[in-house]
Amino acid sequence: MIKISPSILSADFANLERDIHRIADADYVHVDVMDGVFVPNISIGIPVLKSIRKVTDMFLDVHLMITQPVRYVEEFCDAGADLVTVHVEADFPENIQAAIDKIHAKGKKAGIVLKPKTTWEAVLPYIDQVELILVMTVEPGFGGQKFMADQMPKVAAIRKLINERNPACELEVDGGVAPDTCQTCIDAGANVLVAGSAVYKAEDIPARIKELRGK
Ligand code: DX5
Ligand code: ZN
Repeated sequence: MIKISPSILSADFANLERDIHRIADADYVHVDVMDGVFVPNISIGIPVLKSIRKVTDMFLDVHLMITQPVRYVEEFCDAGADLVTVHVEADFPENIQAAIDKIHAKGKKAGIVLKPKTTWEAVLPYIDQVELILVMTVEPGFGGQKFMADQMPKVAAIRKLINERNPACELEVDGGVAPDTCQTCIDAGANVLVAGSAVYKAEDIPARIKELRGK
């Protein structure tokens, strides 16, 4: 079963509660946190996540696009994240490991994220420990960018590794996922699809979510 995680980066932040209730048919809510340093954009942070937690019981999939995420992961867990993902490029390996450990100590799921130029081998130190691996299919920072099909061999390589070493681990893709690209991601082995603009620009959001689950 393919899971859909709509990105609220494409929601109307002045009507966030309404826009979260609009995606009730989805599986997760994808929350993009950007610090203006790790990526060239600033989005939302801990206070907004706390407010989101108050208005929904949905699973909150929090994607941290921030430098040295180990500094903040516990606060994101306390604010209501169910899953916190950290970029492997965002700090030294020992600090990425510390971030994973802190998330787990809070009783939450931990994941790692790979930017497009980062190769699949980057997951090797963490594959046995994480609940999710996220492969970016755009350069992180903005919604509405073009899907990078050249990331599919990486998705397939990580799927193979997951099946061998940690079959419960989920494999998520993020960026440019739309009706014309979702099946490619599913065929490569992804089981969680993030979609921002493809969900929020749709006339019929429940129908679009169904469409994104593939054939
Ligand atoms: C990009 C974010 C994505 C983004 C996806 O840095 O991580 O989650 O919102 O948006 P779409 O689906 O429009 O590419
Ligand atoms: Zn994201």
